Amino acid sequence: MSKSLQAIRGMNDILPDQSPLWRYFEGTVAGLLDTYGYRQIRTPIVEFTELFKRSIGEVTDIVEKEMYTFEDRNGDSLTLRPEGTAACVRAVLEHGISGGGQVQKLWYVGPMFRHERPQKGRYRQFHQIGLEVFNLEGPDIDAELIVLTWRLWGLLGIRDAVKLELNSLGTSEARARYRDALVEFLTQHIAVLDEDSQRRLKTNPLRVLDTKHPETQAILVDAPKLADYLDEESRVHFEGLKARLDAVGIPYVINPKLVRGLDYYSKTVFEWVTDKLGAQGTVCAGGRYDGLVEQMGGKPTPGVGFAMGIERLILMLETLGKVPESIARQVDVYLCAFGEAAELAGLALAERLRDELPTLRLQINAGAGSFKSQFKKADKSGALFALILGDDEMAARQVGVKPLRGQGEQQNIAWDALAEHLATCAVQA
Ligand code: HAM
Repeated sequence: MSKSLQAIRGMNDILPDQSPLWRYFEGTVAGLLDTYGYRQIRTPIVEFTELFKRSIGEVTDIVEKEMYTFEDRNGDSLTLRPEGTAACVRAVLEHGISGGGQVQKLWYVGPMFRHERPQKGRYRQFHQIGLEVFNLEGPDIDAELIVLTWRLWGLLGIRDAVKLELNSLGTSEARARYRDALVEFLTQHIAVLDEDSQRRLKTNPLRVLDTKHPETQAILVDAPKLADYLDEESRVHFEGLKARLDAVGIPYVINPKLVRGLDYYSKTVFEWVTDKLGAQGTVCAGGRYDGLVEQMGGKPTPGVGFAMGIERLILMLETLGKVPESIARQVDVYLCAFGEAAELAGLALAERLRDELPTLRLQINAGAGSFKSQFKKADKSGALFALILGDDEMAARQVGVKPLRGQGEQQNIAWDALAEHLATCAVQA
């Protein structure tokens, strides 16, 4: 195929074979969120560039080098959303739905765009399901967010494969004090720091803690610890979160180096990580952002949330063999009709069956064909049964019900009794 007709690198088609797994995953999450009282919000995929600069932070990888930014025909600078939190903040402010302390428990799903180097689990268009809660400041809601993801891992059968890492970044004042101490310490060792860390030291020093460079990591062993600079309020908040996780029995590790790549966090930050996916092991991540709404022009409004990467979680389900068997089959019964009269009767019969068994997945053979070719297609469809309508069946007002997956002999069933018969065969999803 010519190059111009290929999808953009790092942006993938989700083909029909894959879609049932996506729907299963998204449906499972949506169902769970309903039970915890979260409501869905849908925001545009494109926003003014300014929104992301002001929320995510000018000196972050995302804003510095990963955004898909372009000028539209009005000359406005627009950006394909690299994440969902900024738009939620904009939307609650714009519509005044977090004013007066109104609690909002929101969730969203959709594609996000970052110009990263594509590899397994890392794409340029990827999908997130995210949650954002406004106007609740206690650790109880931070705990709820984590508890519900824990339940989700249970529903998906992947609890044993994920680990929770937690940290507290403290209030912005505590972080500023810590930043000063860290800068002072790192400046003494500046000659040994890698180039990226030298740059970050000037622009965003906390991100030096994230470094992958062994020499810099060795220096960091003796660096001041954020935990020693935590203010009393953040310390009590963090203890409250840990106590709640302990109460539910959710295991976690404290990772003092967990700082996150977006600037808006304060107090709680967390990541769910796995060692089953190689380098891209963070499947779900988030934290508290109590200063963000105010920074974006609103009244002081506490906020907390997270987002999970759908591609990574789908990969995990596949890698761990946790794709439910039931979603592999997409057809329950396949109707084969031979001759014009049988085709007409078959169509009417199929519609009757759809009335009586609304969730039955029934496929009608299209394009006629011989016995042999129609059976071949019935078999290939993955259906449990072929329904057969030929001259003999038409004369007797019956249908041949032929098991395709080795469940006994073919039976002839009267048209009027067909729905009941199929229901007892448990063919419905
Ligand atoms: P994030 O850590 O940038 O946070 O992304 C959250 C998750 O999205 C990651 O843990 C990962 O699973 C997935 N993800 C990120 N980038 C990619 C990529 N290039 N390819 C595939 N998956 C990816 C945020 O986006 C914050 N808005 C989360 C949040 C919500 N914090 C508070 N509220």
